[in-house]
Amino acid sequence: MKLAHHLSIKNGHLLINGQDCVALAEKYGTPLYVTSEDRVVEQFESYKKALGARYQKVQVLFAAKANGNLALMRALAERGAGADVFSSGELYLALEAGMAPERLLFNGSSKTPADLKLAVEKGVKVSLDSLDELHQLEAVAAAAGKTVKVSFRVNPALEVPTHPKIATGLATSKFGIPHREIPAAYREALACRHIQPVGIHCHIGSQILDIEPFVRAAEVMVRVAKELTGMGVKLEFMDLGGGLGIPYHHDTDPAPTAEDYAAKVVPVFKAGVEACGITPELWVEPGRSLVADSTVLLTRVNSTKKAHKRFANVDAGFNLLIRPAMYDSYHEVIVANKADAPLDTEYTVTGPICETGDILAPDRKLPELAAGDIIAVLDAGAYGYAMASQYNSRPRCPEVLIRGTQAGLMRRGESLSDIRAAMERPPWQL
Ligand code: LLP
Repeated sequence: MKLAHHLSIKNGHLLINGQDCVALAEKYGTPLYVTSEDRVVEQFESYKKALGARYQKVQVLFAAKANGNLALMRALAERGAGADVFSSGELYLALEAGMAPERLLFNGSSKTPADLKLAVEKGVKVSLDSLDELHQLEAVAAAAGKTVKVSFRVNPALEVPTHPKIATGLATSKFGIPHREIPAAYREALACRHIQPVGIHCHIGSQILDIEPFVRAAEVMVRVAKELTGMGVKLEFMDLGGGLGIPYHHDTDPAPTAEDYAAKVVPVFKAGVEACGITPELWVEPGRSLVADSTVLLTRVNSTKKAHKRFANVDAGFNLLIRPAMYDSYHEVIVANKADAPLDTEYTVTGPICETGDILAPDRKLPELAAGDIIAVLDAGAYGYAMASQYNSRPRCPEVLIRGTQAGLMRRGESLSDIRAAMERPPWQL
């Protein structure tokens, strides 16, 4: 199986950044998320380089929803990253990580009054999703005596080749304002005293392995930009969103790079803005393509069983990685302590959750397994821990970060007392 270069196999063990996954599992226990900071930084720099080589004003915003760990965001902040934040929580963490407020965009289709207030207070830009929200933000900004810079999220009505649950720019999606109604929305924004419309934003979906849909989106965005510029909107940024996919099937999926993306999308963007006579910043908001392959989820085999087929029952389930259960997504698995043994036995790798759908990896050829073996689930860095839960009252596991030859906890594991701590006795049970 093809492996990204931060993963390797030595003496039958899987290594991440040269560090032995089996030793990490022994030291920190399982289940365990392990992330290579170097890999995340490398991917971030590749976006900056690919876009920056083709256009002078570029800003890469990390989509914080993909992986909300502060240590990771800090590593990105140190390199000048901004963030697409989708909640007050993500905004708080991005600021705490040291990201500059002017490099943050507060996205979201359903923001609360408190979200809007926080955005105004912290001076971050807001991507508006409705006219209702525009007027609410105007009122909040007026009360604070401030002006807020905003964009509207454009719904470009584009079909994209991905799982329907993560296509976000379809004409039928809940996100954004239909592109034909966009000029009217900006007209309304221009009339607001405390709102300054300075950007346009879109995001067409996630795990997209073909560059063409991004080119189509860029075409819609430059058309919109032309209309808005004609209306007197001074565009300071155009945010084309995230969405570039990764090859979850390592040997067969296409593996588009930031370079491939930039080579096709930037010329369309550049020609479009030149035709408008403007030079707005080009923003992108990648999540998955920055962080997905940086991370393995290490999980221990509790037991094996031969029923109608062979099962390997492991200690991580959809409580820690919900993607296979939710989107039928494929994650490669490697037995970390038998990484070069022959793949001669078929197993379905199942989690400990009390649901039939708690399957991490169905029908995989693996070496013969025994209790105690360590399975590494690959490409777990995006929407892995970020979507984890405490279902079945299971504390969430720790996360370890690796940089060069160092390794350290970036999130401790929860304990049962953490679960207990948030529970209260209602007055009648006192
Ligand atoms: N910007 C906006 C406004 C978004 O809604 C998203 C993702 C991104 C950027 C980042 O997209 P990315 O580059 O990561 O594809 N939980 C799903 C993915 C949901 C994506 C939602 N929006 C999964 O596990 O596949």
